[in-house]
Amino acid sequence: MQKNSFNPVSWYKYMQKNKPITYDPAFTTIFGSEGAWQIFPHAAIQDVLVNHQIFSSEVMPKTDDNPYSRAMTVTDNPRHKQLRSLVSNFFTIKSIVKLEKKIRKIANDLLAAKLEDESMECVQDFATLLPIQVIAEMLGVPYSDRDQFKKWSIAFFNDPSESEEGAMSYFQSQNEMMQYFLLLIEERQKEPQDDLISQLLTSEVDGKRLSTDDLLGFCILLLLAGNETTTNLIGSAMLTFIEHPEVQEHLSMNFNDIPKAIEEVMRYRSPVQSTYRIAKEDTDFQGHSIKKGDLVVVWLGAANHDESVFPRSEQFDINRNNHSQMAFGYGIHHCLGAPLARLETKIAFETVFGQCKNIRLEENANLSIRQSHLVYALNDLPI
Ligand code: HEM
Repeated sequence: MQKNSFNPVSWYKYMQKNKPITYDPAFTTIFGSEGAWQIFPHAAIQDVLVNHQIFSSEVMPKTDDNPYSRAMTVTDNPRHKQLRSLVSNFFTIKSIVKLEKKIRKIANDLLAAKLEDESMECVQDFATLLPIQVIAEMLGVPYSDRDQFKKWSIAFFNDPSESEEGAMSYFQSQNEMMQYFLLLIEERQKEPQDDLISQLLTSEVDGKRLSTDDLLGFCILLLLAGNETTTNLIGSAMLTFIEHPEVQEHLSMNFNDIPKAIEEVMRYRSPVQSTYRIAKEDTDFQGHSIKKGDLVVVWLGAANHDESVFPRSEQFDINRNNHSQMAFGYGIHHCLGAPLARLETKIAFETVFGQCKNIRLEENANLSIRQSHLVYALNDLPI
């Protein structure tokens, strides 16, 4: 059975039943390498993610020309713990709540620009611009650079194996991002501002300041991790609420239920569908012999549709218990930006439902989805 990008769930269920843990020699990773273990059951995915001593996050060599390779997502302990502790304070619920007013204003302005038309391209006009403005605000970069940010984010999550152009734009974007942030770091070194980069420049781990390379890796991680994923969540949530008008009506009258509806969207249409690990040693994993150096793909999107954890998983049910959904990952690399993503999305829908009723897809809308095994991303959503 083949994976259908628009609705990968039947493929996940087929694999969970027939090949829950399997080696696919033809699987092409975003780095262009071939062959990977594929893991589909919820429990096995948790096992992989919790066993970070065996299943390493260092899936790419750390090189100077690829600053992302130094980011905490692709770094193991003890370095991972140091990097994470340095920035974790900026992402606690307490710190994030301080952004609430700004996020509300950004969401309001974006919606106001479209209200008169009574129609908008939800992905381009709203879901993309909201997180970009929030990250720009945090990093202290001009909002006018948003088009570049968007281009880089998209290139990063494209599957380079899909086309040579995809691969080219992936590496070109890496390079452009690096130059952009190097300049910004230099400027903040000379003239600190009231932003995250300026604060990080003076932060210390074990008495040592972050190197420019580490700082660069962090900026790029935030730009990529924080933009594209939240855009996908907002777009998928809008589509899901349109497909379920009774939920939409309920939410527009009961704002308190918006957070649990968003939580269910994350399970139902997980913005990040998969993530990678690499085996650090030969290991017997649930009867499978995984060799040192083998790449492992854990399908978070499949975990969130595992019937043994989420019965009738294909039903969108805002009242289901989805505490164990894994859209934000699991274990030591659990998404640092989860409180921010939740807050942004909650505010997005409070803003929209506060001013719009009966949101529908435009007639003859022909939806398509990004070709990527990493993310679930609508290309467009005319509403
Ligand atoms: C890590 C998903 C939004 C920052 C992760 C991971 C996932 C994820 C699955 C774990 C990756 C792994 O273990 O390999 C999401 C989703 C989001 C979202 C679905 C939105 C709906 C954000 C935002 C930010 C952010 C808004 C920050 C502005 C991070 C960081 C990590 C991370 C820094 C690395 C944590 C670590 O390695 O310890 N995210 N993310 N994310 N995310 Fe998010």
